[in-house]
Amino acid sequence: MIHVQHLTKTYEDLQRGRFVAVDGISFSVQKGEIFGLLGPNGAGKTTVLRILSTVLEPTEGIATVAGYDVVRDSSEVRRHIGFVSNNTAIYDRMTAWEMVEYFGRLHGMKAARLKGRLDDLFDQLRMNDFRDVPGGKMSTGMKQKVSIARAMIHDPPVLVFDEATLGLDVLVARNLLGVIRSLREAGKCLIFSTHIMSEVERLCDRIAIMYCGKILDSGTLEELRDRHREDDFEELFFGLLSQHEQEMRVGGRINPASAANQAVGEQLV
Ligand SMILES: Nc1ncnc2c1ncn2[C@@H]1O[C@H](COP(=O)(O)OP(=O)(O)O)[C@@H](O)[C@H]1O
Ligand SMILES: [Mg+2]
Repeated sequence: MIHVQHLTKTYEDLQRGRFVAVDGISFSVQKGEIFGLLGPNGAGKTTVLRILSTVLEPTEGIATVAGYDVVRDSSEVRRHIGFVSNNTAIYDRMTAWEMVEYFGRLHGMKAARLKGRLDDLFDQLRMNDFRDVPGGKMSTGMKQKVSIARAMIHDPPVLVFDEATLGLDVLVARNLLGVIRSLREAGKCLIFSTHIMSEVERLCDRIAIMYCGKILDSGTLEELRDRHREDDFEELFFGLLSQHEQEMRVGGRINPASAANQAVGEQLV
């Protein structure tokens, strides 16, 4: 469903010059699977997810969603993907129903199909008791459900959750994880990014640990624990991060390949 190959994204930044935010990463996610991107702030998670949802173009590498290339077939990709973040704008004066309906229209859905889909979604996400409540009067939990419904209105097979639990109270966050599990049961392909270790531990079928634009390792929780001979996931995670930092320090000093890269980088700036 999702294939990412050697994906790289560089930003031009006044302070940092040519800055590599995503550095040649590869992964795949299947139908009926929750894939976790775990990494601290600045790791490059949002950049990857924005490339998948066609908001950003990659600098190098390939990404496909449901068989469509994110650059060449971007409109097809948008039909097959839904994006949920933690900072979706909710309009104060529109009701839950109106907001989700509005996004359905933006996707070009015809009235009859849209009505059926709205009924199904409001049942599925248990939103009927606040369907006529305007955004300005919604709780954070209600707003989050509207964001999910908006992302799902066109029934995409792929859903992306970018730090979607950030700022939610514990109960609402727990409910959200429940909704994501039920989407897996329905056969969706899901990517879930977070910096919270316990969330990936509890939710994700496979995990990629991301740091400084790279995937340091990926696999099921069991595979990662076996490979690193470490049962405590937090220890495992911080161990990988500090190992990477050590390698970078050594590489920066004595590795000629990385010195050459730096020279090329300077020429480009
Ligand atoms: N538009 C941009 N211009 C320059 N640098 C950016 C831009 N967007 C993100 N970055 C940088 O790219 C890196 C990765 O950011 P991001 O993908 O948001 O990481 P994460 O979501 O894991 O916190 C960070 O160092 C961030 O400062
Ligand atoms: Mg982010």
